[in-house]
Amino acid sequence: MAQINDNFIKIPATYLFSEIAKRVAQHKEANPDAPIIRMGIGDVSLPLPDASVDAMIKAAEEQRHAKTFRGYGPEQGYAFLRDAIVANDFAAKGLDIEADEIFVSDGAKSDTGNIGDIFSVNNRVAITDPSYPVYVDTNAMGGRAGEPNEQNVWSNLVYLPCNMANNFVPQLPDEKIDLIYLCYPNNPTGTTLTHAQLKVWVDYAKANNSIILFDAAYEAFITEENVPRSIYEVEGAREVALEFRSFSKTAGFTGTRCGYTVVPKTVMAFSENGEKVALNKLWNRRHSTKFNGTSYVVQRAAEATFSPEGKKQVKALIEFYTENARIIREGLEKAGYTIYGGKNAPYVWAKAPEGMGSWEYFDYLLKEKNIVTTPGAGFGLSGEGFVRFSAFGSREATIEALKRLEK
Ligand code: MLT
Repeated sequence: MAQINDNFIKIPATYLFSEIAKRVAQHKEANPDAPIIRMGIGDVSLPLPDASVDAMIKAAEEQRHAKTFRGYGPEQGYAFLRDAIVANDFAAKGLDIEADEIFVSDGAKSDTGNIGDIFSVNNRVAITDPSYPVYVDTNAMGGRAGEPNEQNVWSNLVYLPCNMANNFVPQLPDEKIDLIYLCYPNNPTGTTLTHAQLKVWVDYAKANNSIILFDAAYEAFITEENVPRSIYEVEGAREVALEFRSFSKTAGFTGTRCGYTVVPKTVMAFSENGEKVALNKLWNRRHSTKFNGTSYVVQRAAEATFSPEGKKQVKALIEFYTENARIIREGLEKAGYTIYGGKNAPYVWAKAPEGMGSWEYFDYLLKEKNIVTTPGAGFGLSGEGFVRFSAFGSREATIEALKRLEK
């Protein structure tokens, strides 16, 4: 008798963004002419940088000819991309990361979801609340989360509430944690941590032999000096942290798919019999067994984001969405909302009107204003009473949405 992984029947039947897509499709079917504005999932609206498209065309042309054709590449990514990542994202900022510590992938969603493969089911896991749903769902699938209650709070996960009372800064847990998920700039709240606030976590991890899984998918949106773009800016992080990066939000690769994970060779965890093991070795083994590499054409597109023209074009994309975030922030404030985030991040976290739940307010905005948001409760219990606005839309749609909200 074939048996399933029972953890799959414990998790909510649909992934958050699939549930939202379903509700939007139903609304559209009932109201085919509804002028829907999508500020839900953080999907970009501007096209890829020209430099990346040109690089893909050139790479595709290489694939046409026997002399330049490439089949399987290195699972970890081509040297041209790993070297470009090291030079631009780390060495240029004085950060000591080597090419064999970079693992190129098809995106940070896959990597943050798959990283659990190399960790024991017995680890105690802490997750900021609210958080990107992939962290909770994949720990549940892997059997580390225990049992959910009716509010979908899991018995074995340690939640680190981020709310108005603590100004969205997670507090250290009062028990020993093995794995800690941090995402900064934060998805969904759009808030950030300063160097000093992040250092508290690095110090905790060092003192407790814990590992920090740091999701930096939104680092390109940081403008303030005291906000770290990489956890490796914090002293000691090379011993305790892995970092996840993405070209999706930086360079518009949501459909093209490319990201990478940094696993310093100095990060160690323990085997059941207490032996120290380098995570780099384990992730390399996992990656080369379950993944055959991001396509050559896409890696060339990613490499091109580091060319002089590519950098200019990426900067323009980020500035465009940052301006959208400002429009959303200021518009919502003018309309009387209590809001957070949106300054070093493409998400604005807005309090629903008093007494209204997240899903209730999501439905109201969809049905009455034809605006799609993401209900805060979908990111965890502490997200209840909030909705998230994404700044990745077109300028026209963003301005129109704010007009509708101000009315
Ligand atoms: C989000 O809207 O939270 C993100 O776009 C989801 C993702 O990156 O997978």
